[in-house]
Formats: sequence, C-alpha cells, structure tokens
Amino acid sequence: MTVKVAILGFGTVGEGVYQTIQSHAEELTAVLGKKVEVAAVLIKNDQKKRNIDPDVLITTDFADILRLPQLDIVVEAIVDKEPPFLFLKQAIQRGCHIITANKEMFAHYGKELLTLADEHHVSVGFEATVAGGIPVIQTLRQLLNINNVQQVQGILNGTSNFILTEMREKQQSFEQALKLAQENGFAEADPTNDIEGFDAFYKTMILSRIAFGKEPHWHEVEREGITAITSELIEAAVKLGLRFKHIASIGLVGNQIEASVKPILVGKEDPFYHVEGVQNAVNVYSDIVGRITLQGPGAGMYPTASAVIEDLVYVCQNAPSKRRITSPSQEESEHKSGRQSKCWLIYGQKDLPYHPLLTKLAYAAEGAWIIRTHKDVIEELAEANKSLIYFPVLGDYTADLADKALIPLGF
Ligand code: HSE
Repeated sequence: MTVKVAILGFGTVGEGVYQTIQSHAEELTAVLGKKVEVAAVLIKNDQKKRNIDPDVLITTDFADILRLPQLDIVVEAIVDKEPPFLFLKQAIQRGCHIITANKEMFAHYGKELLTLADEHHVSVGFEATVAGGIPVIQTLRQLLNINNVQQVQGILNGTSNFILTEMREKQQSFEQALKLAQENGFAEADPTNDIEGFDAFYKTMILSRIAFGKEPHWHEVEREGITAITSELIEAAVKLGLRFKHIASIGLVGNQIEASVKPILVGKEDPFYHVEGVQNAVNVYSDIVGRITLQGPGAGMYPTASAVIEDLVYVCQNAPSKRRITSPSQEESEHKSGRQSKCWLIYGQKDLPYHPLLTKLAYAAEGAWIIRTHKDVIEELAEANKSLIYFPVLGDYTADLADKALIPLGF
C-alpha cells in the first residue's frame, strides 16, 4: 500500500517538501503504515533542470495529474490565488486530501475549500500557511477544545523580522537586508507582500478563523508594513531601549474581533524583543492556560517543509476539521481603541505642544519622543504635522528601558 502525492510548484517550498519526503521516508512509513511516494510534480517552466527522480511525472498541465490512476494527496506550493484555488477544488472533487502553503489563496478561499472538503470527506492541511515551521494551527486546534482564546499576537513575517534585525544589528540598508532575505529563500516571489504587511495580514486572517471561528472585516484591519522604518528610526529606538517588531494582533473586544498588522516598539521585558532574524513567534492568550508563546523559524525551505510533512500525517489520520469557518460578524461595530491611553514613539517633531491628554516620557535626539496619549491625539498631531510618523509601544514604557544618556521626562 502506498500514499501517492502530487506536489504543485517546485520553488523553495515544493522542493523542500519533495526532499523531505525522500529524507524522512522511513519515519513516514512507520507512522502511517504505508509508503509515501511522490507521483507527480507540477512545474511552470519545463526548460529548467531539476533534481527529480525519473519515475516521477513532471508536467506543466494539472489535467495530467488529475488523470493519474491513484492520487491521494495534493500539496500546493504555488503563488497567487488562481490557478491554485481551482486546482485544489478539482483535487478535492477527485477525492484527494489537500495541503497548502499558500497564504494569500487560503485567506481568500479557505472557507470554500474546507466546506468542499467536508462534502467530499477529505481533509485540508494548512499549517504551512502561518508562521513557517511553528505548529501554531495544530496548537490552536488543541487549545480550542476547552480553552477560550482571547487574544493572539505574533511576529508572522520572517522576511520583515529578518530585515529589521539586519538593519539594527549589522547596520545594513533596507535594500541590502531585503536582498539577503530573497537569497535565503525567505521572501515571497513579490516581496511587496512581505514588506508592506500583506503576507502577515493574510496569515492573521487565517489565525483569526481558527482561533475565533470568524474574521474581522478586512477593510477595517489596520495594515502597515515596514517600509517607513529607516535606519535613523531604528537607532533612535535602540537609544530608548526599544526594538521595532512587525506584530499582528487579533483579539476579542466584547464580541467584536479587532485586528491590526503593523510595526510596534517593544521593550526588553517583552518576549517579542528577543525574536530575531527569520524567527516568528506567536503568543496565544486563553482563559484556562493563560499565555503560551511559540517561537521558531518562520520561513525557509525546511521549516516550511516541516509544516507540510506534519500536515501530510494529519490529513491521512484525521477526519475533516470540526470547527466551521464563519463569515465576518455583522454585529461588529466601530472600535473604541482611539480613546485608550498608550505609549508611542513619535518621530519628526522637535517641540511638542501642550495637550492635557499627552505625557512626554522620554526624548532621544533627532525629534524622537516617547509619549503616552490617546490615538486620537496622535492623529491630531499628525494632521498638524504631515511629516510626523508614529508607532505604538507594546505595553508600558518605563524609564529603565532607556539608554543611560537619555533624560526621562515624565514618569
Ligand atoms: N515570505 C514569508 C515570510 C514566507 O517571510 O514569512 C513564509 O510564509
């Protein structure tokens, strides 16, 4: 008895999955009681030389794969929403389990694929869509049985975290750091998705569905990438004892879901402060267990292959997911976070006007301040000074975070 697998796409992820199926063949056979065999690989360019066994069907036409006499699992590692969505629908209709690493496609069409898979009594694995090698989907599935998840926060884009770390530690320019991330196979085919926060946004929506059974309205989610973060800003943050991290947050506020994906400053007490390079981390807060932090490699060939290979076992052994994905709640209304007091790093203003709701906490040269105020007040300041930029600080800012040379102002 054999499990026959087709791999769609032979880029970093597809090739990693192919190699891992070969290198861990014994373990797979031991766990599944069956040999796992790659029967076919779908490629785009048939002129390119690839290291694939001659017994494997290599084709540019998905119809050839659907015609195989036996096909049990289709692993999809292509980019873009189409045609991968169509391929996976056809694979399900043929009775195959599917596994995807495609965040953008799954964020858009995950609900439809899961429903179709239920109807055809097959399973869907999507661990590789979020946080690379970290088994966050499986962890949330486990926690969801009895715990109520209240909030999920994470560094979900390895490329962004890698760039921010390289810029801070090695004084690399943004462009140099991005190039290195591309050479290491961390970045998306179009790195705009990484650096403008789209990749982390898609992952956040997938997490929201699994953690809360629903998503916020996409257009209400604050999404910002890391392109506004200059070396000067990073340096100012370091003097203030802070590091920039690109953080996704999703939480229940009353019965609404609030989400954001943006650069945030964190101090050394925060677990995210030490998450460096291509690492991702996810904090899950739930009512019984409290906070769980998962950390690990968020991108790259083998971390992503690890998630796919574990899904391979999952889809073979498990019935379709019990938890339904629902549409965004219609009851969600305006969120109130504009009137909560928080700490911010603001940059680009030498003198700050008096405001009853604004407390100056620290000043690092070059017009970089740490202040505590409401988001509404920050927005007023930004309206008056178009060159002002601002980033939230996670938690509270305390004087002992700052470089000794800085004068704390208002604690
Ligand atoms: N480009 C993605 C990242 C790959 O850097 O996180 C993993 O999803």
